[in-house]
Amino acid sequence: MVTKEQVMGALEGIVDPFLNKTLKETNAIKEVTVKPEKEHVSIKVAIVKTGTAEQMQLQGTLVKLVKELGAATVGLRFTEFTEEERLQFAPQEEQSESLLSPHAKTTFLAVASGKGGVGKSTVSVNLAISLARLGKKVGIVDADIYGFSVPDMMGIEKRPIVRGDKIIPVERFGVKVISMGFFVEDNAPVIWRGPMLGKMLNHFFTEVEWGDLDYLVLDLPPGTGDVALDVHSMLPACKEVIVTTPHPTAAFVAARAGAMALRTEHEIIGVVENMSYFESKVTGEKEYVFGKGGGEKLATELQTVVLGQIPLQQPDWNTEEFAPSVYDENHKIGVIYKQIAQQVIERAAIKQK
Ligand SMILES: Nc1ncnc2c1ncn2[C@@H]1O[C@H](COP(=O)(O)OP(=O)(O)OP(=O)(O)O)[C@@H](O)[C@H]1O
Ligand SMILES: [Mg+2]
Repeated sequence: MVTKEQVMGALEGIVDPFLNKTLKETNAIKEVTVKPEKEHVSIKVAIVKTGTAEQMQLQGTLVKLVKELGAATVGLRFTEFTEEERLQFAPQEEQSESLLSPHAKTTFLAVASGKGGVGKSTVSVNLAISLARLGKKVGIVDADIYGFSVPDMMGIEKRPIVRGDKIIPVERFGVKVISMGFFVEDNAPVIWRGPMLGKMLNHFFTEVEWGDLDYLVLDLPPGTGDVALDVHSMLPACKEVIVTTPHPTAAFVAARAGAMALRTEHEIIGVVENMSYFESKVTGEKEYVFGKGGGEKLATELQTVVLGQIPLQQPDWNTEEFAPSVYDENHKIGVIYKQIAQQVIERAAIKQK
């Protein structure tokens, strides 16, 4: 009758169908017992996932081999590797172009706020365009799956095309754009729940042909609820820009978004105070219609800086290239956005505490 050692020796050379390593290398043979009187051999082997085609395949190989060694019957049990073992032996992720791969050099810039309507999307769009104006390769993800607004703000009427299994983002003002708005018909509301939402976001990162990006701006959904939390936790290393209005209570709410960023270990690189004041075209006088000091207060609280203050004013509308929320490069606010973008580049390059 075959011995335990012989069985071990024979099994060790078999290649694990998941990991492409021998069972010896992965230390997968957990148990071998031989009952000579019954000519029975029982084996316990660890694999990545039980109940799979790979298990069936391995099962066939193992039983055949042990029977060839002289066993009349073979008892085979499978167990799953612990997470630790699996990670240790799993083949290195392919050097894919995925933005989420640890090798990607893209800096993620999330634009967040504690509450809605403070100008996150406006800031995201103009920050992205200003970065592109400064010669950077930039993408923008409208991560506000339910309340998407980026395509309209940038005046995008085109839709992305699909090449092979990749989605090609729409390019506008030198920025590659992807939004849920591209995938719904006639402005229909999106009514997905949690898991689907996470999946969609994941698609935006992994199935979109972003090419080589320096910055990917993420326009986050408002608030500090589930969706915002999901988005936060999906991105491993992310720099955040927090948008607030100048009213002290707005800054309070924004501080919660800041706290959330810190909890998910995202670095806050600065605060943008939007709708800071209204400047009279006639007298040049500034009126602080929404109060004063909110940005500064928030920056102090989050131990960061105010990247810029943006006054109240609509962009000049250009009928040829209609993009209702995009400020021209030479517009007063366009210039402020460029200065903000410049600071973002500088501050994103150094690790904040
Ligand atoms: N500085 C500004 N001056 C005038 N209007 C502005 C300014 N910033 C934003 N707005 C306007 O305020 C409204 C809200 O802005 P926006 O959609 O960017 O906010 P948001 O924080 O993304 O909102 P939501 O929470 O709904 O996503 C928009 O109509 C926008 O055009
Ligand atoms: Mg928005």
